[in-house]
Amino acid sequence: QRLPELLKTMPKAELHIHIEGSLEPELIFALAKRNGVALAYADVEALRRAYAFTDLQSFLDIYYAGASVLLKEEDFYDMASAYFVKAAEDNVVHAELFFDPQTHTARGVAMQTVIDGLHRACVDAQKIHGISASLILCFLRHLSEEDALVCLEQALPFRDKLVGIGLDSGELGNPPEKFERVFARCAQLGLRLVAHAGEEGPPAYIWAALDVLKVERIDHGVQAIKDPALMQRLAEQRTALTVCPLSNLKLCVFPDLASHNLRELLDTGLMATINSDDPAYFGGYMNDNFVQTFAATGMHAGHAYSLARNSFEASFIDDAAKLKFV
Ligand code: HPA
Ligand code: ZN
Repeated sequence: QRLPELLKTMPKAELHIHIEGSLEPELIFALAKRNGVALAYADVEALRRAYAFTDLQSFLDIYYAGASVLLKEEDFYDMASAYFVKAAEDNVVHAELFFDPQTHTARGVAMQTVIDGLHRACVDAQKIHGISASLILCFLRHLSEEDALVCLEQALPFRDKLVGIGLDSGELGNPPEKFERVFARCAQLGLRLVAHAGEEGPPAYIWAALDVLKVERIDHGVQAIKDPALMQRLAEQRTALTVCPLSNLKLCVFPDLASHNLRELLDTGLMATINSDDPAYFGGYMNDNFVQTFAATGMHAGHAYSLARNSFEASFIDDAAKLKFV
């Protein structure tokens, strides 16, 4: 079998997808029209032309502007449903969706509106596509821990619709330690814990995510390569890294895909996975990430099997159901 065919057809889990980052420009304009929201861009082409990022923050500014069209339960449902169509095409059979409620509640959208719409899309993804899906609520790390605690309070009535908690937005200057108390609270509630660390930030942020926040998975984590002791720890504990190659390329974390360190992470024995992060902004969904990264780095079928197996092993599917996949 040709490698691209294997990459496209093999069943896989996606563990690092910000659902607001799956909003395609066409849907942004359709929702803006439906909701009477004014946009700073004349049309789809003008918006797409603005997708020329230099770093994480330059992307986040446009990503939060795009999310401003989301107001109603149906908007969140339509956004996630469009993602599941793409995921099904790429043979994603399980997905854990990040969402950023503070971006929405700050605009007066109720937590219930956000979670109800996303959850309904997850339930329908199983019925329509046979995809199992769950939700991970992310705190915005550029905001305060007090804000995160308020957000958690607002989400408590919907606790049963969440599998876990994450931490995203601008990393540099917002170390994991800032969220120690709120993550401890989430652990007590039985929520699974993940955090973005080592995307742009130093290895120290990955250590802190593990030791202070006590997360089970690291989102991105590619900067771990700078710290041999950390690499050893991640390998020994089989801590999953949810790596996002096209994201790293578009946000200038690596100069080109051939320079990406995913292959080195895998060959060193780390439990890395491939994910799309914000596919509408970074030029590709799951299979684009797989095919382009394999072409650029010369990885082979053995790497493909490892990545697929890792994606299920690192998922928050319950252990009995996991046996189906691994
Ligand atoms: N990093 C941090 N925050 C984010 C990202 C990311 O890649 N995507 C959406 N929010
Ligand atoms: Zn991310």
